[in-house]
Amino acid sequence: MLTDWPKLHGDFFRHQKALVTGGAGFIGSHITEGLLDLGATVVVLDDLSGTGGSWENAEVLEPKAGGRLTRITGSILDKPLLARIVPGCRYVFHQAALGSVPRSVEQPELYTHVNVVGTLNVLEAARAAGVARVMFAASSSAYGDTPTLPKIETMPPSPRSPYAANKVACEAMLSGWAASYGLDTAALRYFNIFGPRQNANSAYAAVIAAFAKAIVAGQDPVIFGDGEQSRDFTFVDNVVQANLLAARSTRPIQGQVINIACGQRITVNELAAQMARMMGRPDLKARHEPERAGDVKHSLADLARARQVLGYQPVVGFEPGLNATVQWYHQVLTASI
Ligand SMILES: NC(=O)c1ccc[n+]([C@@H]2O[C@H](COP(=O)([O-])OP(=O)(O)OC[C@H]3O[C@@H](n4cnc5c(N)ncnc54)[C@H](O)[C@@H]3O)[C@@H](O)[C@H]2O)c1
Repeated sequence: MLTDWPKLHGDFFRHQKALVTGGAGFIGSHITEGLLDLGATVVVLDDLSGTGGSWENAEVLEPKAGGRLTRITGSILDKPLLARIVPGCRYVFHQAALGSVPRSVEQPELYTHVNVVGTLNVLEAARAAGVARVMFAASSSAYGDTPTLPKIETMPPSPRSPYAANKVACEAMLSGWAASYGLDTAALRYFNIFGPRQNANSAYAAVIAAFAKAIVAGQDPVIFGDGEQSRDFTFVDNVVQANLLAARSTRPIQGQVINIACGQRITVNELAAQMARMMGRPDLKARHEPERAGDVKHSLADLARARQVLGYQPVVGFEPGLNATVQWYHQVLTASI
C-alpha cells in the first residue's frame, strides 16, 4: 500500500485489540490492513451479504497478520454473537452496512433493519463491553442535493434515500449514546471513497470501478449526464488515517459528525480521460447516457472540522491514489478476462 502506517502511528496500536465490522468489504479490509501493519490484533465480523464483501479481501492480509487476524462470518444483527466478540476490544470500527442507494430505495425495510438496528446492536454491545471508542462509517449522502459548496457539518442533513436516512439516523444514535452512556463515538462522513479491492462487478459499482472495468475490456466508459458533475474522490488510505486518528484522539469526540475527504473536486469527464490515459487507452472516449434521477451535481467537503478535531489531512492525494487503484484494477481485471 501507499502509506507507511508505523511511520504515522508508531506503537500506538501495538497489542491493542479492535473489531472491524464489515471487514471483508472494501473499506473495512483497508482499516484491518492498517491495524495489522501497526501490530494490533483484529477481529473481523462480516456476513458477506454486501456486494463488496468477500473473504478474499481479508485473505490477502493473512501473510502479514501473523495469527493476529480472526475472521468471523456473522451478522451485526446477531446480538449474542456481538456479546461474545466485542468484550476485550478497545476500539470498534463499524463499517458493516448495506451500501447501495438505488437498492435501498427498492428495499427500505431491509436496509433500515441492517443499517440502523445493526448499528444499535453494535453500540449496545460496545457499551456493555466498555469499548473506548466506536468509529462509524457515515456518508456524505446525508447532505442530499443542496447546491451549497463546500459541504460543512453544520448544514442540516437532507437525506434523499433510505440509505442516506439510515446513515443520518445512526449519526443521531451515536451522539445520543455518547451523551447518555459516556460511550465515545465518532461519525466519519466519507465522500466517494476509491481504491484497490473496491468491487467492480456490482451493478452499483462506484464510478472508478465501473470505468476501470470498461477500459480494461476495451470499451468506452459510460457517463450519465454531461460529465461536468464533480466529486471529492478520496483514496481509501485517507479513510484509514481518519479512523486511526479518531481512535487515538485524547479528547472525547462525543458523536461529532466529521467530513472525511480529499478536499478537491474532480469532474467525471476529467476522471474518465485521466483513467483512460493511465491505463494506456487514451483512444477510448466517454459515451454519454441520460442523467440518472437523483444524481447530485457537485460534491466537495469542507475539512476544517476534521483538521481541528482529528488533526486530519489527506495522506494520499487524488492522482497517486488513482494511479495505484488503476494499476490494481488492471491486474485483477486482466486476470479475470
Ligand atoms: N465506499 C464509499 O464511497 C462510502 C461512502 C460513504 C460511506 N460508506 C460506508 O462505508 C462502509 C464500508 O463501505 P464499503 O464501500 O467498504 O462497502 P462494502 O460493501 O465493500 O463493505 C461493507 C461490508 O459490510 C458487510 N455487511 C453488510 N451487512 C452486514 C451485516 N448484517 N453483518 C455483517 N456485515 C455486513 C458486507 O458484506 C460488506 O463486506 C459502509 O458502511 C458504507 O455505507 C462508503
